[in-house]
Formats: sequence, structure tokens, C-alpha cells
Amino acid sequence: MTFPDRRMRRLRRTPAMRRLVAETTLTPDDFILPMFVREGIEQPVPIDSLPGVVQHSQASLRRAVAEAVELGINALVLFGIPLNKDDEGSEAWNPEGVVQVALRQLRSEFGDDIVLMGDLCVDEYTSHGHCGVLNDRGEVQNDLTLELYQRAAIAQANAGADMVAPSGMMDGQVASIRAALDGAGHSDCGILAYAAKYASSMYGPFRDAVDVTIADGGDRKGYQQDFRNAREALEEVGLDVAEGADMVMVKPASLYLDIITRVRAETNLPLAAYHVSGEYAMLKAAAANGWIDGDAAVIEVLTSIKRAGADMILTYLAVEACHLLNA
Ligand code: PBG
Repeated sequence: MTFPDRRMRRLRRTPAMRRLVAETTLTPDDFILPMFVREGIEQPVPIDSLPGVVQHSQASLRRAVAEAVELGINALVLFGIPLNKDDEGSEAWNPEGVVQVALRQLRSEFGDDIVLMGDLCVDEYTSHGHCGVLNDRGEVQNDLTLELYQRAAIAQANAGADMVAPSGMMDGQVASIRAALDGAGHSDCGILAYAAKYASSMYGPFRDAVDVTIADGGDRKGYQQDFRNAREALEEVGLDVAEGADMVMVKPASLYLDIITRVRAETNLPLAAYHVSGEYAMLKAAAANGWIDGDAAVIEVLTSIKRAGADMILTYLAVEACHLLNA
């Protein structure tokens, strides 16, 4: 061997050589597009803190889904913004609730061309903004909340959801939703469990998107995970798998790559990661200032999440990433 050995650089010499040895490839098949649908609007409403993302009307949602299908996106997850919020979040299971209407319309328009998922929680629907019902001390009641999730799961499945995605982090939510779905004849409806979901500062823009303010300056630290903990995520995943999850998720994604890698080693189920609103907003803000190359960053961030071990990525970047990948 002559010195220096040029073995590492040899394989980086040309684009074709680099493609040949690439270990990770990103494709439109990897994406799940999160979408917002708001009751009572005729035109889409932009979300300031999520540039490029909108609250859709039912009609603009259908147009946007047509575009996504055209680009090769296989799945979406829907979030609803109701006209009326109450203590329990009852619009989450109203058959005429905004997400249920959207699911029915999308199913009839797109058939099985796209996997339809409903985010399953009540925070967008409760007047206090918490992910469940409160006791008189303002704490979220676990078991009473599970009953609400069961109703919402059945409503979403009745409306045509292929999968429901419980995001509220109540104990036992996967088992109770599985039982409710099976009991209502919806054994085909799957569960994408937000298994390791952290109480994160990265959800701010999302709360603008769904018009949620947590009452009394509260937070979700009583039910979402503490970001200092990694082993705890494996406990969460283990429980959700045992309870019948079909797929599991880590959320957020880019700040939690270590968690993705550890969960990947722990389960053979499909693993999703959610590149959340704050992660998106940071990238967009830096790109808008010309401080980073936005297009390059989109591909690098999403590829990193896949390289860490995720099979699929929930991301507001899905449409633009498809355009970049198809270019
Ligand atoms: C709760 C929910 C949240 C997100 C998805 N589902 C917000 C929260 O837990 O406060 C955040 C997603 C994002 O930030 O993009 N239903």
C-alpha cells in the first residue's frame, strides 16, 4: 500500500460513484404529509409560523391531496380545527366533525390511492387545550380520557380512516383504542402509535396551526415524555407494541435521532418519525434569511432521519421534498 491510502476519497469522486455507494435513499414513499382542515372557512388560511403550510377548507384540502397523490405521496395524517370547542372535545367524535367530513370526502374521491390517517387526540377540540379531560385540580384524567379516544377512533374509522394515530400519551391508549375498533367491526383499521412523544419546545407553530392555547400557561409535562430520558422511550415503545400498535413513532425527529436509532434496534414494526412544526420553522426561517441553503437542508435533514433508522417521516416538507427528489 502506498502512503497515503486514498481509499475513502476514491469512492467520492463522481456523482455516479457517490450514488452507487449511498447507504440511504429518500423517496416519496417515505413521507406522510400532515394536513390541517378547518371548519367554516371557504379559502385556505396561511399559518404565519409555518410558512408554506395552510389551514385548509374542505375543497382546498381535496385539491392539495390530489397534488400530493400526483407527486407519489402515499399517506397523510389529518388534524382538525373545529368551530366549537368544549371541555371534553366532543367535536373529535361528532360524525359531522371537521376531520370526519374530510375523511369521508377524501375516501370517496381518492379511494385506496392514499393511506388516510387521523391524528387521534382531543387537544384541538378542548376549550382548555389539554389532550384529555381535567379534574378540579386541572390534571388530565387518564381513564376518562381513554373513553373519549375510543369514541374518536370509532368516528374516524367509520369515516374511512385506514389508521388512527393516537398522540395524547395517555397510559393504555393503544389497547383501549384497539379494543374499541375491534368491537365496532373495524379490525382493518390500524394504529400508528405516537409511542415516544416528548414534551418539546418544538410544537409552538403547530399550536398556532390548530388554534390551541393551553389554559393557565400550562404544559404537557404531566403526560408527554421528559427530554432528559432515552431509556424511558423504549418502555413506551414496548408497551405500545404489546398493546397492539401496528406502527410506532418517535417525535420530534431531528433532535431525537438517538431515540430513533435505539427504537429501531428494539422493534421490527414499521418506525415513523415526526419532523415537527418547530423543526420545520427553524429550517424555513434560516433559509428565508439566506443563512442556509434551504433546498439542501431539506434533503439533508430528512435523509438524516431515515439514516438514523426511521422507515417513514411525517413532515410538512413532503411536497417540496418530492419536487426536489423528482427534479
Ligand atoms: C397533539 C399533537 C401535537 C402535535 C401533533 N399532535 C401538539 C402537542 O402535543 O402539543 C405537534 C406536531 C407539530 O409540532 O408539528 N394532538
